[in-house]
Amino acid sequence: MITGIDALAFAGPAGYLDMSDLACARGVDPAKYLNGLGQRRMAIATPCEDTVTMAVDAGARALAGFDVDPAEIGTLIVGTETGVDHSKPVAVYVHELLKLDQRCRTFETKHACYGAMAGLTASMDWIASGRARGRKALVIASDIARYGLNTPGEPTQGAGAVAMIVSEKPRLLGIDPSRIGDYTRQVMDFWRPLYSKYAFADGHYSIQCYLDALVGARADAVGECVDLLDSLAACLYHVPFVKMAFKAHQRQLEIEHGGVVSRDHNESWQVLKDSYQRLVAPWLSLNADIGNIYTGSLFLTLIDLLRQQASALAGREVSLFSYGSGCGATFCIGRIIDGAERWRGALDPSAQLQARRRLSIDEYEALVHASETSDSLEALDPASFGLHGGVYYTGTRDHCRQYTHA
Ligand code: HMG
Repeated sequence: MITGIDALAFAGPAGYLDMSDLACARGVDPAKYLNGLGQRRMAIATPCEDTVTMAVDAGARALAGFDVDPAEIGTLIVGTETGVDHSKPVAVYVHELLKLDQRCRTFETKHACYGAMAGLTASMDWIASGRARGRKALVIASDIARYGLNTPGEPTQGAGAVAMIVSEKPRLLGIDPSRIGDYTRQVMDFWRPLYSKYAFADGHYSIQCYLDALVGARADAVGECVDLLDSLAACLYHVPFVKMAFKAHQRQLEIEHGGVVSRDHNESWQVLKDSYQRLVAPWLSLNADIGNIYTGSLFLTLIDLLRQQASALAGREVSLFSYGSGCGATFCIGRIIDGAERWRGALDPSAQLQARRRLSIDEYEALVHASETSDSLEALDPASFGLHGGVYYTGTRDHCRQYTHA
């Protein structure tokens, strides 16, 4: 049985910040953000757009766009590290708002950016065990990345959700269960204590932890002495910022070359640049325009790949690497399903992104401050943030969060 991804859809906030505007405001050379990190824009959420509302939006798009009846969903998993309650899962709000069946098993997974990959592999196991009885799983990655004003992490924020439907007859990507590898190690590279809305990061150390996890998870998936890259059509990575995918690809090439690939060695550097341009760079444009969406970031690259090349690459294999700080990681191999190009219109978020509004620095900073207190405000008006036509968080009354169609 080949299980895998049957449907995919993105949803995100209505506003974004241009990285040149942020660079000017912070007195930084824009080239650092644009080229050094590889980011063009980052999605910014208003207080009315939260992990629940983005998950509902993405989930509804996946169900409607791929003609899946909500009654077919037997498991709902929301992967998130920016939930809205210490106890109650985001998933149960989503379950109600998407009108899923009461027999649907519903829960939240948290392991930094790894939560959605954990949900995806758990759903595949649920199907393979026979428990699904023909039903499908809906796995939604939803997060708002916040590091705070004037921090090194500030240019690597973002917000958004990716919904995936997992089934035994996937229409987009089959995943080979015999080549899924895992890696876990307790590290303090990035974390968010209970008392903080903002993440703490040991930024440069976190990059090292990510690369160590890539080596470990890849070895567990395919072995230590395997040349893989020549047979792949694409390498998809967790993308906290676009340049990280370059560093990750450099590490994969080093594994296969058995030595350091650096600018000082012209020949190997050229091989890396060519390989990166062929297997990685073409699928990073959504990440560059949306920023880090934590658990969904890897799956944004998959959307980008499928919307561009599903037809040309049908039947070809791709690698996927998910990394969550703290840390946990999975490396696996998928195969693009013949006919996936038929769903291009349903998974391409171009229209949504074109409709976004560019925020000024003052508006962005006001939203950051407003979000600090919005969890306890009684009444929030989506229209005051220019929002309409969706489900929004409208305040907390009697300690209960309210979600309203507006
Ligand atoms: P920084 O120290 O401000 O930046 O923070 P830098 O000095 O390292 O510069 C960044 C790059 O820009 C460098 O490129 C510079 O050379 C270049 P590199 O050498 O790395 O190739 N640069 C320039 N390029 C062109 N023109 C210029 C210029 N100036 C410099 N003028 C850092 C960077 C990523 C550390 C920071 O943003 C941060 O802490 N981010 C948050 C942590 C993070 O994203 N970690 C990634 C790995 S961990 C992970 O992925 C998990 C995560 O998603 C969380 C989760 O799991 O939930 C984060």
